[in-house]
Amino acid sequence: MRILFYTPHADDAPAWIASLARALPFAEVRLWSPGDTASADYAIVWRPPAELFAPREGLRAVFVLGAGVDALLALERREPGTLPNVPLVRLEDTGMAEQMAEYAVHTALRYMRRFDEYELAQRESAGNAPWQALEPHRRESFHVGVLGLGALGTHVAKTLASLGLPVRSYSRSTKTIDGVTAFSGRAELPAFLDGLKLLVNLLPSTPDTEGILNRDTFSLLAHGAYLVNLARGAHLVEHDLIDALDEGRLAAATLDVFAHEPLPAEHPFWRMPRVTITPHISALTLREPAVEQITRKIEALARGERIGGIVDLLRGY
Ligand code: NAP
Ligand code: GLV
Repeated sequence: MRILFYTPHADDAPAWIASLARALPFAEVRLWSPGDTASADYAIVWRPPAELFAPREGLRAVFVLGAGVDALLALERREPGTLPNVPLVRLEDTGMAEQMAEYAVHTALRYMRRFDEYELAQRESAGNAPWQALEPHRRESFHVGVLGLGALGTHVAKTLASLGLPVRSYSRSTKTIDGVTAFSGRAELPAFLDGLKLLVNLLPSTPDTEGILNRDTFSLLAHGAYLVNLARGAHLVEHDLIDALDEGRLAAATLDVFAHEPLPAEHPFWRMPRVTITPHISALTLREPAVEQITRKIEALARGERIGGIVDLLRGY
């Protein structure tokens, strides 16, 4: 079995290749480099250049080292026919759901207890911050909405609900989780958003969801609501967020993902005290669980079995 591997993070490649070689001892694992069009049974990739998909013999599936496949599908949209006609398989959870839940819980509690305002007061007062309690938001009316109820959103919604927060979910198809109020489809989006105090985004980036975090969306949330974007920068209309924060319509935002990454030094978000920035770390791809899942799927494909995580190219996720 021949496996082609690629990541743009060249320093990480040796550890991945060693892990794959351990998990699949009969496989020959090689790092793709420009000009390599030799045959391979499987490609295991993160953000590959289009050139990696030049015609090659034997390819049976492409595994993506992440949950989101928007970068690969963008290659196909730019140049139809770029992606080979084989299953494109994404990671399903592999330890990311737990990381997302940690991030979402941290952020929800930080805003509910108004710790962000104490931090701001300390930073801005140079030792002279008012010694004054702020009334925390009431848990029972701190309505949280989770956009996207997939491998990650489901665990995030359940975990937030387990804290006693009132949680709503939004997905494309109808889904239910105990203790979470479910909404689905565009027609139900306004009811989902209505009066939310905290909106957490875990949608995939597709033509349908691009720009969903916009002025109209913000106008339906509670006044002084909070936004947490953990999915993709393309979901957010940045100038609408800047306006909503300036107008006080939104109280604060925590952003892990951006239209341009790394976020350029001159970007206004860096200088907005109500915007908390993290560098696309809300859920990192964990090597060992990812290799384990891909290995199990390669074995299942070899037995002719169905596997999960195959991307529907028309839906875009
Ligand atoms: P997933 O399992 O594919 O779930 C996607 C969810 O979004 C599903 O519930 C789906 O609805 C819903 N959805 C898709 N299109 C929709 C639409 N037009 N309207 C309403 N709901 C829609 O994805 P996942 O594994 O949970 O990952 C979600 C995203 O998180 C990824 O695509 C990626 O962009 C992002 N992510 C970010 C990081 C990071 O570090 N920042 C890490 C990993 C992933 P159905 O249930 O009806 O299909
Ligand atoms: C990371 O952003 C992923 O999609 O896994």
